[in-house]
This record gives sequence, C-alpha cells and structure tokens, in this order.
Amino acid sequence: MNEFFTLKNGEKLIIRETQAKDYEAVMLFLDRLSKETVFTNQYPGQPYRDKENSIRIYELPTNLFLSAFAENGEIVGQISIAINKPGHPWTGRNASFGISILKAYYGLGLGTYLMQKIEEWARKQNLHRIEGLVRSTNKRGINLYLKQGFEIDGLFHEVAFINGEWHDEYHISKILR
Ligand SMILES: CC(C)(COP(=O)(O)OP(=O)(O)OC[C@H]1O[C@@H](n2cnc3c(N)ncnc32)[C@H](O)[C@@H]1OP(=O)(O)O)[C@@H](O)C(=O)NCCC(=O)NCCS
Repeated sequence: MNEFFTLKNGEKLIIRETQAKDYEAVMLFLDRLSKETVFTNQYPGQPYRDKENSIRIYELPTNLFLSAFAENGEIVGQISIAINKPGHPWTGRNASFGISILKAYYGLGLGTYLMQKIEEWARKQNLHRIEGLVRSTNKRGINLYLKQGFEIDGLFHEVAFINGEWHDEYHISKILR
C-alpha cells in the first residue's frame, strides 16, 4: 500500500513495499549509494545481485522491505527488517534491520519515518527485539538510533577494512515493550 511522506523541505515521497518490478530501480539506488558512503556494506563496482533471489527476498512474509520513491520514480531511501530465525521457539521474535538513504535526502526526517515504520511492523508481528550494526564513526546513524530508543549493546573491533583502515561497529538493539 502506498503512503506519502513529506520531507522537512516540503518534497513528497511515496513509501511502499518493494516489488519485483522495482528490481532495476533498486540496483540503481544501490549503485548510487555505494559511491556516496562507506557506512553500509554496498561497495562501488559490486556485482548486481541475482534478480530472482532479490525478488524472493522482497516478497518473504518474514521481511518488510520498504522503498522511498521520489516523484521521478527513483528510489532515494530504503529500509528492511527481517526476522532472524522465523518460527524458532526461543529466538524467533528477534529481527535485524538495515537502512540507507541517498545523501541529497539526509537530515530531512526520512530516516526517522522509516525507523518508525519498521517498529510498527515489528510490533504487529509480536516481535520482541530489533537489532542492527552501525559503524562507530557513523554519528548521524547512531544519533538516529538512540533517538528511536535503541541502546548500544557493545562494540565489535575492526570489522571492516575500508580505504586502508579498520573500522569498529556497535551492535545496537531495542526491546519492544
Ligand atoms: C543514517 C541515516 C539513515 C539517517 O537518516 P536521515 O533521514 O538522515 O535522518 P533524520 O533526518 O530522520 O534525522 C534523524 C536524527 O539523526 C540525527 N542527525 C541528523 N543529521 C545529523 C548530523 N548532521 N549529524 C549528527 N546527527 C544527525 C539527529 O539526531 C536527527 O534527529 P532530529 O532531526 O530529530 O534532531 C541516513 O543519513 C543514511 O542513510 N546515511 C547513509 C547510510 C547509513 O549510514 N546507513 C545506516 C547504516 S547503520
């Protein structure tokens, strides 16, 4: 279902679940993203992901995969959340998320809105815990998560080797009460 979100600068975006027909737009988005930031795991020149597998992931009932579309139909932001071990009697209520937005759209409220959408979905699924990873130098990301009620569980040392340097990552989580 389409939803409209108005950014702080007045631009309107369409937010909806990612579908098979969006595959090319997703690949273009990831390609752009990879050239703008080292805070996700997308890297420049990354081979295109297998189409069938990508589409299967968009449509899994244990995932929510939202895209934010500008008026010209291009994707400018995405968020996804996936139950880690669906149906597991002990850990089946835990889910991991990832979020990415193009630079031109930073700081306009989209990240906050998308985080609220995954939390809403997680609560409807009766999930207990949402978790993720964030590079320790990603101040904007860390601020966003802390503002949304996430806590830092701990630091993983030297997880990613980027441009000649090792980068640490925080593990973050929010318990849904
Ligand atoms: C991190 C990211 C998702 C944040 O989304 P966003 O749309 O820019 O965030 P919002 O505009 O909703 O701002 C949310 C909060 O982030 C923080 N923030 C925003 N701009 C900031 C800045 N320049 N410096 C530090 N914190 C900042 C603020 O706490 C802000 O809340 P406030 O506006 O109520 O004060 C987005 O910038 C992004 O995709 N970055 C590149 C990829 C990435 O880092 N992904 C996350 C990997 S873990």
